[in-house]
Amino acid sequence: MHAFTFHNPTRIHFGPGQIARIAEEIPAGSRVLLTYGGGSIHHNGVHAQIAAALAGRTVIEFAGIEPNPEFETLKRAVELGRAERVDWVLAAGGGSVIDGSKFIAAGITLDPAIDLWQIVGNRTPLHTATPLGCVLTLPATGSESNNAAVITRRETQDKLSFKNALVFPRFAVLDPSVTQTLPTRQVANGIVDAFVHTTEQYLTVPSGAAIQDRLAEGILSTLIENGPVTLTDPANPDARANLVWAANQALFGLVGIGQVVDWATHAIGHELTALHGIDHARSLALTLPSLLRYRLKDKTAKLAQYGRRVWRLSGSDASVAAGAIDATEAFFEHLGVPTRFSAYQLDASEVAKAVREQLTRHNRLKLGEGGVLTPDDCARIVAMAV
Ligand code: NZQ
Ligand code: ZN
Repeated sequence: MHAFTFHNPTRIHFGPGQIARIAEEIPAGSRVLLTYGGGSIHHNGVHAQIAAALAGRTVIEFAGIEPNPEFETLKRAVELGRAERVDWVLAAGGGSVIDGSKFIAAGITLDPAIDLWQIVGNRTPLHTATPLGCVLTLPATGSESNNAAVITRRETQDKLSFKNALVFPRFAVLDPSVTQTLPTRQVANGIVDAFVHTTEQYLTVPSGAAIQDRLAEGILSTLIENGPVTLTDPANPDARANLVWAANQALFGLVGIGQVVDWATHAIGHELTALHGIDHARSLALTLPSLLRYRLKDKTAKLAQYGRRVWRLSGSDASVAAGAIDATEAFFEHLGVPTRFSAYQLDASEVAKAVREQLTRHNRLKLGEGGVLTPDDCARIVAMAV
């Protein structure tokens, strides 16, 4: 196992009724910027519960953070937060709202002379950030308790991330009951995103990290068993609760410590979203099976372990590894998440060319474990998913 330091400062309140805990987290008298998306929080009781918990604070609302949060929108929120001298940001929504709010929290306290776009790609140091809390309404990204955010600038087709310990949410409320209003498509997306977060940190090379491997296999098995139940039986509270916790744990930080990690599927997926507006999880389903096939030789040992322990396959390493990739692809398709560009009426070889250019422009020249995937390799991977 490789050396690591682990610290995750986000306090998690899990379960029904936990939104009320915000009253203990955000001091009375605070000026709170409440950030959210297109309005789903008005239809599932989240907004009303937050309003009750924030009684005695001044609340300034900023609505309209879109999926794949857009820089221009977030800039307006930073300006509002500065003008209103807010001392807390409270995000209510999925990964987009939470990621966008990390940017807002970092932007409010940034020297106004610095271009806010410099935050993205970690091109300006952050010295402080406004404290951030969040109410998660969509299990998928793990953003509610990590320090990463992905921000989009449509005019330049950029979808880029930043990471900073200052934007770890101080607290996260995970009430599975508020996910009941999610459309099926978003539930399926969440299952796939959590699945791929786990494989990115697990399907690489053996690192002798027994606990992390078992945690990854536990998360993957839970998603395989439990994910389809959340779709066929949406009101099943245990299925929903386990999905919320699985998605959280996939990117809480524990799976990847001491391991060799990949993340090339995400790098390629972000370019697919930047180019074609494909939902984040859907961009991953288009990429992962081909990437695993492309790197089969490098990944055989872990793929065989995954195939035996998670899919209960038997046979030689080579046949189990190949079978595990097929099973993964079939699982995504079973969830209604396509793994081929033809499902989007897109020509995979044309997309591949554009992905190669984007990766080169974004200086993503050596991806995956070992840094062996060049933009040419990534284009070949994309072109495989015809
Ligand atoms: O905007 P509202 O009205 O809230 O509607 C949203 C949105 O349209 C809706 N929704 C959310 N909760 C709902 C609900 N609808 C009904 N009932 C509810 N309870 O769902 C739609 C999609 O929301 P979004 O936040 O975009 O989805 P997701 O959570 O999948 O987030 C995707 C974003 O997170 C980034 C992605 O790149 C993408 O920008 N990621 C962030 C990561 C991180 N910070 O660590 C890691 C991930 O790999 C990912 O890159
Ligand atoms: Zn993801």
